[in-house]
Amino acid sequence: MKKVLVAGGAGFLGSHLVDRLLRRSDLERLVVIDNLWTGTLDNLAHIRDPRLQVEVGAAEDLVTDMRFDEILHLASPASPPWYMRDPVRTIKANVVATMHLLNFLAPGGRFSFTSTSEVYGDPLISPQPESYRGSVDCTGPRSSYDESKRCAEALLFESQRVHGIDVRVVRLFNVYGPRTRLDDGRAVSNFLSQALTTGELTVYGDGLQTRSWGYVDDIVEGLERFFWRDKISYKGPLNVGNDREISVLDVARYITTLAPGSRIVFAPPIPQDPTNRRPDLTVMRGVLPGWEAATPYEEGVAKTLQWFREQMEHELTAPVAPGPVRLQASVKRPGPGSASVLAMRKRRRSQLA
Ligand SMILES: NC(=O)c1ccc[n+]([C@@H]2O[C@H](COP(=O)([O-])OP(=O)(O)OC[C@H]3O[C@@H](n4cnc5c(N)ncnc54)[C@H](O)[C@@H]3O)[C@@H](O)[C@H]2O)c1
Repeated sequence: MKKVLVAGGAGFLGSHLVDRLLRRSDLERLVVIDNLWTGTLDNLAHIRDPRLQVEVGAAEDLVTDMRFDEILHLASPASPPWYMRDPVRTIKANVVATMHLLNFLAPGGRFSFTSTSEVYGDPLISPQPESYRGSVDCTGPRSSYDESKRCAEALLFESQRVHGIDVRVVRLFNVYGPRTRLDDGRAVSNFLSQALTTGELTVYGDGLQTRSWGYVDDIVEGLERFFWRDKISYKGPLNVGNDREISVLDVARYITTLAPGSRIVFAPPIPQDPTNRRPDLTVMRGVLPGWEAATPYEEGVAKTLQWFREQMEHELTAPVAPGPVRLQASVKRPGPGSASVLAMRKRRRSQLA
């Protein structure tokens, strides 16, 4: 029977993985450590399984006598506005927490880590294979995230090389879907929040920058297979994502068709926003045969819009105190994208008044 630790298990992807881990019959104990920086206990509130133990705290400060057969380290914000606001905390979450958590791995245990396509920086080749070494600016505004993921990868692959530790590293490309924060601040979530509130979808620059968006159920299925389900002999980093490349403008246009009355507005480009991102999935297809991020973005975006709508309705109808207390209480730690959510609440309250 296995003891498993998930760092960042109250977040978007972590909580989906927790749901899947709890389906395992060989699981004795599942410990989640999460400091609720970008995650929320709401993501785990539906779980009644006594094997789950949730600890609120930073992964880099974890104290326990337990040793884990598997450690899944997802504890880091993924959204640029969130990680850019607190670079030291971001570096700690990726570098210091990786170093620290390795101490809690049982002999023969496995350490799984969610790295990112941002290790490729603003790539000079497309699509990006795992062998591409990246074009990253170590002094740029994204460096706390990009470079701390690169350093964490170095720590893990050196632990594998020098100490023979079983390491699984995925480089995730953009993921979206239910349980994304309403104030996440990335393109798809911003567009969805704006479509449901102000009705103005902000496209930065000309919108021709491309991304490859993977729907959460597909991506988490790939993670489950790679982290614990399949027998894997591959030892390197693995790109996981959708290789259908779509421009930010196309996504915005599509969302305006789902939210009649909404429209696109343009704003100046974001500094060092990568111009393109698309995974080369050749290795992935060999390691996880049959796996595809099959959900078309049109379907995934429509499902996510529905979830955003339900979340907003829930926040509006939840029995909380009136006035400013309600605004603050319903957005724990207001984030960079929260303005439109707050605007929506104010507007709705004045409509209800
Ligand atoms: N979602 C994506 O598109 C994407 C893309 C590439 C990589 N990733 C990686 O996947 C992982 C999960 O991303 P996500 O989208 O679920 O993000 P998320 O922000 O929803 O989840 C991260 C979780 O980690 C927690 N956390 C942050 N720092 C912590 C710390 N020091 N100690 C304990 N908990 C901490 C947060 O509170 C949150 O619950 C991250 O490592 C991220 O870098 C995600």
